[in-house]
Amino acid sequence: MFAKETYINRRAQLKNKLSNGIALIMGNVDASTNYLHNTYHFRQDSTFLYFFGIDLQGLAGVIDLESGEEMLFGDDFTVDDIIWMGPQAKLADNAAKVGVSKTYPFAKLGEVIAQAQKQGRTVHFTPPYRGKNMMTMGDLLNVHPNKVKEMASLELIKACISIRSIKEPAEIEEMDRHMAVGHQMHTTAMRMAQEGLSEQEITGILEAISISGGGMVSFPIICSIHGETLHNHYHGNTLKNGDLLLVDAGSESPLHYATDNTRTSPVGGKFSQQQKEIYQIVLDANNNALAATKPGVTYKDVHLLAAKTIATGLKELGLMKGDVDQAVAEGAHALFFPHGLGHMIGLDVHDMEDYNDTLVGYDDEVKRSAQFGLSALRLGRKLEENFTITNEPGIYFIPALIDKWKADKHLSEFINYSKVESYKGFGGIRLEDDILLTKEGSRIMGDRIPITIDEVEKTISGK
Ligand code: GLY
Ligand code: MN
Ligand code: MN
Repeated sequence: MFAKETYINRRAQLKNKLSNGIALIMGNVDASTNYLHNTYHFRQDSTFLYFFGIDLQGLAGVIDLESGEEMLFGDDFTVDDIIWMGPQAKLADNAAKVGVSKTYPFAKLGEVIAQAQKQGRTVHFTPPYRGKNMMTMGDLLNVHPNKVKEMASLELIKACISIRSIKEPAEIEEMDRHMAVGHQMHTTAMRMAQEGLSEQEITGILEAISISGGGMVSFPIICSIHGETLHNHYHGNTLKNGDLLLVDAGSESPLHYATDNTRTSPVGGKFSQQQKEIYQIVLDANNNALAATKPGVTYKDVHLLAAKTIATGLKELGLMKGDVDQAVAEGAHALFFPHGLGHMIGLDVHDMEDYNDTLVGYDDEVKRSAQFGLSALRLGRKLEENFTITNEPGIYFIPALIDKWKADKHLSEFINYSKVESYKGFGGIRLEDDILLTKEGSRIMGDRIPITIDEVEKTISGK
């Protein structure tokens, strides 16, 4: 964990932003896979990690926003627990490491919540996303578990977003350091982009690198010769020369900060001329977006710049036509780039998405668009120094979407459908970097993973 002061300061910031009631921050418990004692790898709740730092099951924190009192609830191991799971530090000792002096058995939490409710005090909490916590909180709050989520505190959510969006120096250090593991995952995937290997074999090696490097993968790996399916988790294909292998993969650092990168490699090591042309457009979109990313600019505008780069390139290839600005304004590029340019990244790969991604990525100044493509942009708001975000433009040829738009003659003044037909089967290309907003602009976190056509071809060929 970070130094004790880090957690004390974070809770102090929260207390500065909220002035009434209590904040209940629930940790996670183990979740079973196929029977009670066969569990998924434990993942602590990110809000709990952020404010209380203890990476263990069965805890809850309470912050009294009026008196300033801070409490941790949890049960020490019994001898029976120790027999199976080994000795564990006492809750009081763990609590001291994060600057909390008051600890109680978990059963006491019910009394504290009941007392607050009896006094008419607000119990603030963020929306639970796991069934077990919904049930526990239903019991604590004396409401049906299905009602808990809608009782979440907008005030607490907004306070958490404003604090967590600005990454502290220690967080940036942790993220920068762990980017080396993401780098190794992606350069390994590039070297494995060879005919005869399967997506599954590559995926397994990437998971192994992540775990050996400090943590689990930060989201299920996308490793596919069908990169046109944006979140493709099928790994049953065998690679052959001429395929494009899209790998979107990341790792959690020991303190649970995520990496999230995408690279797209030509199987066998040589891009075809057609692949090079599309790849270079995506790379130009990525580089143009990086250059434009700085404090004070909205990410919606950066997204639109990437969209314009894509539309311009596709027009040069004869796939799009007409006025580029108008095409982008009407969302014609979204046939090829139907997702957003990026999202915040931190303790979660889509940082704070459990709170609600529109609240994280938008504000009173920048509202979320309803237009197809742009509506998928998770981060549209004005950028600030020390935000950590992703930059992930892509071009995809999705047969079902092409067929639908073509049948509807949708935006046909901007799309050359007969030429687009000939790209069916191309797949998809996405290039994703993690970037830090600096005082003047932005920089890629860690060493940039090979990305130019020459760098990628050389890496695949082991040069
Ligand atoms: N890995 C999912 C994403 O890039 O957002
Ligand atoms: Mn990704
Ligand atoms: Mn991403």
